[in-house]
Amino acid sequence: MENPAKKLTVASEILGTGMCVPDRVVSNEHFAAYLETSDEWIRERTGIVERRWCDEVTSASALAEPACRDAIKAAGLTAADIDGIVLGTVTPDNIFPSTACYLQSRLGIQSGYAMDVNAVCSGFVYALTTADALIRAGQGTNVLVVGVDIYSRIIDPNDRGTCVLFGDGAGAVVLSRKKGDKLVDGAFGDHMVEGDVRDISGIYGSELRADGRYADLLCVPMGTAHPPTPESLQRGDHFLKMQGREVFKFAVRSLADVTKNVLDKAGVAIEEVDHFVSHQANKRILLSMAKHLGVSEDKVPINVDKYGNTSAATIPIVLAECERSGRIKKGDLVLLSAVGGGFSWGAVLVRW
Ligand code: ACO
Repeated sequence: MENPAKKLTVASEILGTGMCVPDRVVSNEHFAAYLETSDEWIRERTGIVERRWCDEVTSASALAEPACRDAIKAAGLTAADIDGIVLGTVTPDNIFPSTACYLQSRLGIQSGYAMDVNAVCSGFVYALTTADALIRAGQGTNVLVVGVDIYSRIIDPNDRGTCVLFGDGAGAVVLSRKKGDKLVDGAFGDHMVEGDVRDISGIYGSELRADGRYADLLCVPMGTAHPPTPESLQRGDHFLKMQGREVFKFAVRSLADVTKNVLDKAGVAIEEVDHFVSHQANKRILLSMAKHLGVSEDKVPINVDKYGNTSAATIPIVLAECERSGRIKKGDLVLLSAVGGGFSWGAVLVRW
């Protein structure tokens, strides 16, 4: 039987990773001091022990800058080599221009493109897939892919069902066109996966999904549909709203489904995957996902205990930590997956 993996083309690969979290550590006791909650409840129901929060002046682009500098250095490049920035966030510096433009200026880059992607906690997976598609279309050789969020600014400090869950953070990777890639029939990506697939590093495939019927289950209802008024601000309408139990159920199902789809399309067996790097929202979601997929918990890196849910930043932060600790090594097969508001969800299969 023909191996479907032979049909894969690989256009881009991850050359470097970086991360940045604020210095301020916020423990579970912080919430227990003024809300009806406890360290025990938060640990047991979420796996979170502490999270990092920014000071009141740090912007998303400022938090992202050191993560990006690290990633660029790790890739063996300089800022001048970056042709584009694709940045996932829902806590932008301003409504416009894009946070990617502010970040571009901070990095001293004056050429190429810069854009934000709004896919909430799936922001990094969406941004990475977009960057891979841009590279295939000939739009740049080295693209900075960033996930950054500052949820400490949008959580209701008096809603115990949400305020304990989120932290601030930034992560980045440099995604680069495979060396020696040539334009074939108007598109890049002539590196074929055939024979020993371990020979080729890069993005093997991805799937992005959304279902807007669920938009109200996880949202910040402030914008053109809900312009802020003194009354709405008084009511706290501008804070994040979430129906946690519904999100939980949807998350486990969708992460498992999209993971299987991406592996099927790539013709890769689930046993071949070395690491399932999934959005860090809740330890119980991650363990349920592992159970649904029938994979060992050892293959699911978890750092939600240290940082909480940093939204678009969770996946690149895990990647940067795992790479630095040696847990993810050259040649490893890594399945990235995320689900977030929208609902939006997706997965990317990448050979390190
Ligand atoms: N401390 C103590 N009790 C609490 C707390 C808290 N911090 N938060 C909720 N409770 C209470 C609830 O009020 C409820 O009380 P009741 O039974 O008297 O009504 C009880 O705990 C059980 O509530 P559930 O919501 O059923 O608790 P659950 O075990 O589901 O845990 C949680 C809640 C942690 C929010 C969980 O549902 C969850 O993690 N959901 C997914 C959240 C998520 O992944 N969000 C991010 C998605 S990514 C993005 O795009 C932002």
